[in-house]
Amino acid sequence: MSDTTSIVTIDGPGGAGKGTISRMIAERFGWHLLDSGALYRLTALAALRKGVATDDPAGLAEQARDLDVVFAVDDGRATILLEGDDVTREIRREEVGGAASRVAALPVVREALLQRQRDFRKPPGLVADGRDMGTVVFPDAPLKIYLTASAEERAKRRQRQLHEAGENARLSTLLEEIKARDARDMQRAVAPLKPAIDAVELDTTQLDIPEVVKRIETLIVERELT
Ligand code: DC
Repeated sequence: MSDTTSIVTIDGPGGAGKGTISRMIAERFGWHLLDSGALYRLTALAALRKGVATDDPAGLAEQARDLDVVFAVDDGRATILLEGDDVTREIRREEVGGAASRVAALPVVREALLQRQRDFRKPPGLVADGRDMGTVVFPDAPLKIYLTASAEERAKRRQRQLHEAGENARLSTLLEEIKARDARDMQRAVAPLKPAIDAVELDTTQLDIPEVVKRIETLIVERELT
């Protein structure tokens, strides 16, 4: 799988800032963006809506394979449609995130989503955001970033995000959820969350978003990816 399209993978645990940072890098260079977590969330949501159990691997793989999804930009706003229905907000709910993490532990589901993710690689470039972008999906990427932040800081960020969306949650509950999700994502047998051996690790606990974006931009320029 060799390709001349520039590609930057950004992996790491939930709440490290991957989503915002990936979007900013993609916009800055005019590249495509793959939000791979959204594909796992969409698979989980499709299963929840159709009554497919989260312990039915064959049924879940079918949902992943047959996902009818459109990533669109509507009035300058990124929008995600599942079977024509706008689910942009719904897939961010805690319940869907938890189900996504369980669904993502199933090898048949990961396999069913693999080619769909690789198809995002189109000129002039791609920023791929996820857990296994640098290790499994795009192992030949010329720049791999691994973003981390302490669980406490990530819980605080999540609380702020929920608050802005009009939802309230206890910090202690969010911290427990984040730790449980980290454990599931890092300990699963297939494509566990871990830095690729050639990844550049950035700890964002003490860095704000513009600083992280600047560092990644510098790496992109230094490696002559533009
Ligand atoms: O990044 P996110 O919170 O939207 O991801 C939702 C879940 O999907 C997360 O718990 C782990 C899983 N995931 C994955 O296993 N592999 C990816 N490349 C992206 C997400």
